[in-house]
Amino acid sequence: MKTCLERIPQDVVALCDYERLAPEFLPPDIWAYLAGGAADERGLKVNQEAYRQWSIQPQVLVEMHGASSTLQLRGGQLPHPFFIAPMAAHRLFHAEGELATALGAAAMGAPLVMSCRASTPIEAMPRHLGVPLWFQLYVRKDREFMLGLVRRLEDAGCDGLVVTVDAPVSGIRNREQRAGFRFPEEIEAPHLVGEPAWPVVESVLDPRYLAELPTWEDLIWLKNQTRLPVWLKGVLSVADAQRAVEASFDGLVVSNHGGRTLDVLPAPLKVLPEISREVAGRIPVLVDGGIRRGTDAFIALALGADAVMVGRPMLYALAVAGAVGVAHALRILCHELEVAMLLAGCPTLPSIRGRVRPVMKG
Ligand SMILES: Cc1cc2nc3c(=O)[nH]c(=O)nc-3n(C[C@H](O)[C@H](O)[C@H](O)COP(=O)(O)O)c2cc1C
Repeated sequence: MKTCLERIPQDVVALCDYERLAPEFLPPDIWAYLAGGAADERGLKVNQEAYRQWSIQPQVLVEMHGASSTLQLRGGQLPHPFFIAPMAAHRLFHAEGELATALGAAAMGAPLVMSCRASTPIEAMPRHLGVPLWFQLYVRKDREFMLGLVRRLEDAGCDGLVVTVDAPVSGIRNREQRAGFRFPEEIEAPHLVGEPAWPVVESVLDPRYLAELPTWEDLIWLKNQTRLPVWLKGVLSVADAQRAVEASFDGLVVSNHGGRTLDVLPAPLKVLPEISREVAGRIPVLVDGGIRRGTDAFIALALGADAVMVGRPMLYALAVAGAVGVAHALRILCHELEVAMLLAGCPTLPSIRGRVRPVMKG
């Protein structure tokens, strides 16, 4: 196993190069946890394949003066539409964990969404770098615990909450099981201290387990406890999107958890157009899962996303080259997106909307 590189090799020019190199830097069980999906990994495959069903519709000789990839989002401005998706325990992949990811993200102006299973306490995260820091959580029935966590996040200067709603139980992760992955004890979870334990049950359909699962009512309660924006992550249906808008949530992430929960969910890109149509600009819509190229982000924006979240590739880059790797991977994505905008004749992110067509079969 190699240790983290100080300099990026010349042949690392695309996110797939980080994916190729990352297994050399990680023990096999941690690699299985990072790269794998649920069961037969159908979700993992369809997420990326969905992007191959679309091509970009260019226009030539467009006036591009003043072109920019700036994102306007809820009154704020970001230099590009890439966010880092919430992912557990970055210390599994690099000794400096979330600190390194945050520095790499900040260098490129990308918001980081910390996972509730982060291995670094939010209080230790740098907050003077001028980029938003969001926090992802799962809602539990225990309101005292939830309130304590929310107040802690507010006090630490967190900019927004992302509630993940698609994982009331962990997916069936055969690749991880075969590799014998377990969270090492030394990788702490400082935001889960005091979290109520899940009941030990034979079946997840045991009433004692089901009684612990959150519902819309719990999410709306949570939303009413804080002034922070609250987004929902893991929405894949028009009905749920409609409900989120009606309940005044602040944004949506269309996601199938990177194919890590239920193996046979639709690719988020497939359902994005209908969800975006339903939401009709009332709240922002992000999408994640399978984004590996700037052109993938272009396609997502063309089909109705306001911005995108990128997951695994950020941790591949973190494992290979720490903060520098994360910044470099984001830079690659931004450059690819900008080149695509120029070649397609789209001077702004909103002008990308609709600029794709289905790939012809045969
Ligand atoms: C190692 C790993 C850990 C993850 N942990 C979380 C988590 O704690 N909370 C969460 O909402 N999503 C989690 N996710 C899902 C990501 O937020 C995101 O939805 C997914 O990775 C996007 O797909 P992509 O990896 O193809 O970009 C995790 C994903 C990975 C790869």
